[in-house]
Amino acid sequence: MSSPLTDLFPHPIVQAPMAGGVSVPQLAAAVSEAGGLGFLAAGYKTADGMYQEIKQLRGLTGRPFGVNLFLPQPEYADPSAVEVYAHQLAGEAAWYTTELGDPDSGRDDGYDAKLAVLLDNPVPVVSFHFGVPKPQVLESLHRAGTFTLVTVTTADEALAVERAGAGAVIAQGMEAGGHQGTHRDLPELDGSGLGLLALIAQVRETVSLPIVAAGGIMRGHQIAAALACGATAAQLGTAFLATPESGANALHKQALTNPLYVRTELTRAFSGRPARGLVNRFLREHGPYAPAAYPEVHHLTSPLRKAAAKAGDAQGMALWAGQGHRMARELPAGQLVEVLTAEIEAARDALTPGGGAR
Ligand SMILES: Cc1cc2nc3c(=O)[nH]c(=O)nc-3n(C[C@H](O)[C@H](O)[C@H](O)COP(=O)(O)O)c2cc1C
Repeated sequence: MSSPLTDLFPHPIVQAPMAGGVSVPQLAAAVSEAGGLGFLAAGYKTADGMYQEIKQLRGLTGRPFGVNLFLPQPEYADPSAVEVYAHQLAGEAAWYTTELGDPDSGRDDGYDAKLAVLLDNPVPVVSFHFGVPKPQVLESLHRAGTFTLVTVTTADEALAVERAGAGAVIAQGMEAGGHQGTHRDLPELDGSGLGLLALIAQVRETVSLPIVAAGGIMRGHQIAAALACGATAAQLGTAFLATPESGANALHKQALTNPLYVRTELTRAFSGRPARGLVNRFLREHGPYAPAAYPEVHHLTSPLRKAAAKAGDAQGMALWAGQGHRMARELPAGQLVEVLTAEIEAARDALTPGGGAR
């Protein structure tokens, strides 16, 4: 299905923005050059850090790309719950010989400053995670020539996004690696979140916006299935995390296919907001007790995660990964786009009468 979004790039493949230094300009450039849509993640960066990455990316490719922003988070965390969790993590800080971070290190992620940069220096696509931007924000980005996308995890969220005037929704199933982009931090760790195909179908019957499908997609035939359900493109995170261009820590990349990590889980252990990662020691020990307090818990555990990475201890790192992690291929990102595209074509052929499905 063609839309003003997919007219920007020939293959229906979006490389997910991945904060924490994963979706670096080299990765986004390789994907955009291969005909997908590369993305930069502005989350946790300063406005200037984001601007420098955009400049670097523009030096690597003239093709369209996107930048992803986190919405500021409303204050509803219970401070005493954060204190109790800090107490629980004291032993981790001692083990890694570091201090816990300050939970009150800011909750708006420099949103206004980043928006100002993106309005001064417009980019082709901007996506938003963790909420719905104000209609005026979307309107001013559209006037600047930027296409806008917003992550949703339910049909109701999609409706709110359509009413606010965004260009498209990213339907993120609960299979997805990293943070769920829920608009409010609801207690969905019980497994009641929607799987991708159920979500696409519900969103499609609720709004008329183009849909980008995200969550657990590792192969072209899964993309073809999402397209058949009504999506116009698919956004893949874990699949691109494994590529040589991704800036993910080598331990994180290796863990995706290491048989030691048998499953993923949604957890608040590292950030206070539900996010899917490989089940390691930290997640197992602290996940059950972590409060719904984002970004306080993110700030609190930041030095622990850094110290674990420095010590080469993957058991203390946030190993974000989607349910398909074991199918990760270590192909260069451009080649991955080509292979996925060929797999989409093969899946389409298989469904055509007289094609491969006999
Ligand atoms: C390491 C990692 C970091 C992520 N960071 C972001 C982010 O900064 N912004 C965002 O919108 N989504 C982020 N996501 C979620 C992706 O956009 C996407 O929903 C997810 O990767 C899709 O599931 P998959 O990993 O199974 O492909 C992240 C995912 C991973 C794995």
